[in-house]
Amino acid sequence: MIPVITIDGPSGAGKGTVARLVAQQLGWHLLDSGALYRLTALAGIDRGFDLNDEVAVASCARALAVAFRIVEDSVVIELDGRDVTTRVRSEEAGMGASAVAALPAVREALFDRQRQFCQAPGLVADGRDMGTTIFPNALVKIFLTASAEARAERRAKQLIQLGESVSLPRLLEDIKARDERDSARSASPLKPADDAILVDSTALSIEQVVACVLSELVAKQQ
Ligand code: DC
Repeated sequence: MIPVITIDGPSGAGKGTVARLVAQQLGWHLLDSGALYRLTALAGIDRGFDLNDEVAVASCARALAVAFRIVEDSVVIELDGRDVTTRVRSEEAGMGASAVAALPAVREALFDRQRQFCQAPGLVADGRDMGTTIFPNALVKIFLTASAEARAERRAKQLIQLGESVSLPRLLEDIKARDERDSARSASPLKPADDAILVDSTALSIEQVVACVLSELVAKQQ
């Protein structure tokens, strides 16, 4: 069976960076499932759809024309043939993703596409329901958290790097609202799988979290 490591948790816990580094070190494939929800939201916005229109947004999710291309050391993301690498990380895409991710038909539409990322020699998948719904048989399941304040500060740094203006209190509010929405929804709510290992990254460096994930893998492979 192809080995899978799932890294789930709230936004800003460091999942994306940790997943990328773990995948790089192992030479495994990477699934950034949040990007698929963000891209679905952007496709809906670009077509002028109301993001609460479940049928319309699910059709966008099914027909999503995306490409993840590795250029030098980073991933370039294209939607409908256009480079959306920066736009996909914007607050517009993040808030839109949180809305469309609550729609069961959208989650259903992205189900197979996510599973197709599971290819030899292995997969590192990050998101909210990787260990609970998409890859319930994963070899290693991590649930990565951090305090809302630490996550808001990390997010602020990322946005500043993207050249966006930032209000920390506003970001903290947004993070709390998104946590609430992601945890309270009935379709695949954000919660740790029963067999997930909980890791709180508030006081840990990225390197320490990566080391922790890799040691869990070694322990499972013995
Ligand atoms: O991880 P992220 O910030 O890129 O995720 C964007 C939104 O998509 C977030 O509000 C939660 C949602 N999401 C989800 O519901 N399920 C996933 N597997 C990944 C992301």
